[in-house]
Amino acid sequence: MTCKQRFSLILAFCYSALLLMTENCPLSHKIVDDCGNVGLLWNCSGLNISKLPTAIPSELDELENGTVTLDLSFNLFSNLTEETFQQIAAYSNVTSVILHHNYITKIENKTFRKLSNLCSLDVSFTLLEKSKIDADAFSNLDNLKILRIHRNNFQGPKIISNPQYKHGI
Ligand SMILES: *[C@@H]1O[C@H](CO)[C@@H](O)[C@H](O)[C@H]1NC(C)=O
Ligand SMILES: *[C@@H]1O[C@H](CO)[C@@H](O)[C@H](O)[C@H]1NC(C)=O
Ligand SMILES: *[C@@H]1O[C@H](CO)[C@@H](O)[C@H](O)[C@H]1NC(C)=O
Ligand SMILES: *[C@@H]1O[C@H](CO)[C@@H](O)[C@H](O)[C@H]1NC(C)=O
Ligand SMILES: *[C@@H]1O[C@H](CO)[C@@H](O)[C@H](O)[C@H]1NC(C)=O
Ligand SMILES: *[C@@H]1O[C@H](CO)[C@@H](O)[C@H](O)[C@H]1NC(C)=O
Repeated sequence: MTCKQRFSLILAFCYSALLLMTENCPLSHKIVDDCGNVGLLWNCSGLNISKLPTAIPSELDELENGTVTLDLSFNLFSNLTEETFQQIAAYSNVTSVILHHNYITKIENKTFRKLSNLCSLDVSFTLLEKSKIDADAFSNLDNLKILRIHRNNFQGPKIISNPQYKHGI
């Protein structure tokens, strides 16, 4: 194989990997979020991911005045930090983040710092404890209107025994 052939092969591979990633995490147009904002939905629900795909669909980038709902429910997110939403925040106006049914145990300071238009946040059905939410975890969320945080470990040492979250827990 010549160098050139090898290069094209690598390119083709990277391209299909990119396609795969964005296909798994499809975009839908014109959805209305919980706050009534009209925009796109980037739906990464149920993909067993623990961080956002690094390939951001170009539509999110080109969106004019539209807002973005990010559905990350039923995944393996465990530790929300300043880095978690840094990249997506640079590209788009995220107004709604759905994270229910994850393994979140920790929300660090500044996690949502760049998502200043966030209006709706769902971190229900995760493994949060009061002591693991940093004092400034939710600071800067001046536009937050809806926070879903029920079904967490706020009442002492009750441990969810089945981490697959069979419904009804
Ligand atoms: C995202 O897709 C899942 C199915 O893959 C669906 O259950 C869920 O309702 C979708 N999210 C939104 C916000 O529509
Ligand atoms: C996610 O992981 C579970 C358990 O390992 C598996 O059953 C399921 O098929 C995986 N789903 C995807 C989309 O990879
Ligand atoms: C986007 O918002 C700006 C400022 O509010 C406005 O001037 C512009 O017409 C809007 N563009 C679209 C496509 O709605
Ligand atoms: C969360 O992630 C940060 C940065 O990657 C790391 O410093 C910290 O130790 C992690 N915390 C937990 C509880 O995993
Ligand atoms: C983001 O969306 C919100 C809600 O529609 C809107 O008020 C705000 O002006 C938008 N910000 C930008 C930078 O487009
Ligand atoms: C989070 O912010 C609070 C208030 O500014 C501060 O007291 C605390 O030390 C910070 N926590 C971490 C882990 O940096």
